[in-house]
Amino acid sequence: MYHKELDPFPANFLWGAASAAYQIEGAWQADGKGPSIWDTFSKLPGKTYLGTNGDVAVDHYHRFREDIQLMAEMGLKTYRFSVAWSRVMPDGEGAVNEAGLAFYEELVDELRRYQIEPVLTLYHWDLPQALQDKYNGWEGRETIAAFKSYCRVLFERLGSKVTYWVTMNEQNVLTSLGYRWELHPPNVADTKRMFQANHHLNLANADAIALFHELVPTRKIGPSFGYGPMYPLRADPNDVLAAENGEAFNNSWWLDVYCKGKYPKVIWKQLEALGIAPQLLEGDLELLKRAKPDFLGINYYHGGTAAQNTLEKERIASQEKAFSGIDPYLMQPKDQQAQTPETVLFQSVENPYLEKTDWGWEIDPVGFRVALRRVSDRYDLPIFVTENGLGAIDLEKDGKVHDSYRIDYLAQHILEMQKAITDGVTVIGYCAWSFTDLLSWLNGYKKRYGFVYVDRDEEDEKELTRIKKDSYYWYQEVIQNNGLRK
Ligand code: BG6
Repeated sequence: MYHKELDPFPANFLWGAASAAYQIEGAWQADGKGPSIWDTFSKLPGKTYLGTNGDVAVDHYHRFREDIQLMAEMGLKTYRFSVAWSRVMPDGEGAVNEAGLAFYEELVDELRRYQIEPVLTLYHWDLPQALQDKYNGWEGRETIAAFKSYCRVLFERLGSKVTYWVTMNEQNVLTSLGYRWELHPPNVADTKRMFQANHHLNLANADAIALFHELVPTRKIGPSFGYGPMYPLRADPNDVLAAENGEAFNNSWWLDVYCKGKYPKVIWKQLEALGIAPQLLEGDLELLKRAKPDFLGINYYHGGTAAQNTLEKERIASQEKAFSGIDPYLMQPKDQQAQTPETVLFQSVENPYLEKTDWGWEIDPVGFRVALRRVSDRYDLPIFVTENGLGAIDLEKDGKVHDSYRIDYLAQHILEMQKAITDGVTVIGYCAWSFTDLLSWLNGYKKRYGFVYVDRDEEDEKELTRIKKDSYYWYQEVIQNNGLRK
């Protein structure tokens, strides 16, 4: 069934699964934990699916031993989780909550007991509410220093026990949903503020990496980026150019900063022209240049497709007309453009070749190979796939969940990853999203990703029983075989 000449996965390949604190832990006020911006935001009316919040989630905080037992039985080699900052530092800075820190140490020890390599994410979106209130969250430079102090606590306590560390999870997603589309906290719609907060996140990322290299020089650290390759809609050079612009706007805007320490010029000039480029202070660019990640975490769900923007087309046409004396100005006013800074660069369009999930996400396994190849060629770093998976409605009946659609999805993506490895890309590991079912930020428990079903829904927490899906047994075999069966 699979191509015979594919390279095998490396012997020490890290087969894993991933999660995030807010989406699984629950125990939102237990043992001294402070509130996070998600604890607050999820309680605003109408913001999440049926008003779901992470107060209980799948209660992993109290059931982590049972969950790790299931991981061990599956044969998982690695498990990616995130630390809730406000569990460790309830106010985001200052006093450390020993009980919170001890929880993560026990979690790491328990994983190690079963030879499961922990991958620790420092920031998966749950900023302490105290920092939002005090410093305006990531818009205030003080939050960068607070992040560094929180990282120091974790590096000192767990540096000797955790080999792989992730700084920021999907900075691109958190900034656009939080500061542009009002879909995540802090519920803002302002691109100028978004780019400034994003710049501070870049500095926090760099600061954390630099500190890590000083304190834990033998371990590895890098950010996890939500990467989607951009395709041109047609071979029309205007669309190809649009896709280049889209790649720069959606991807290089972050990846160049992480890996090369600089912002891509084409986007910087566009933001500057619109008056929304972030303000840089002396020393910022030096810090960004100095802090190099050891690997790149890639979360892959889908890519995007670009066409030349029709507004831009009109602008060019009108300029041409201007030479013959006709009014040239058809473009949006500048302040409107500032809210959609990509307008002149590209237009996102549907890809006519791809099927979609129930939530309208394109299914594109080949895009995964393209993604791994592009990122590897551009940045020449080992890649850790820190997320990939299918969100679907799962039906449980008599203690079984037949999720063949998830098996198909994952098998296709794993095959493309193996092709990318055969092409020459270095991939350290692969974490499917997710291990157990968990709370989707905006889709409650309707949209599920796990290998392990958790019996609860939006209205009823029920017993939170863990049930192995068909995909659990399938992935167990993949791990045993170190890859897909031939
Ligand atoms: C990634 C996030 O963007 O996508 C995860 O890192 C998230 O935290 C996952 O759960 C799937 O998103 P959604 O919206 O389908 O739950």
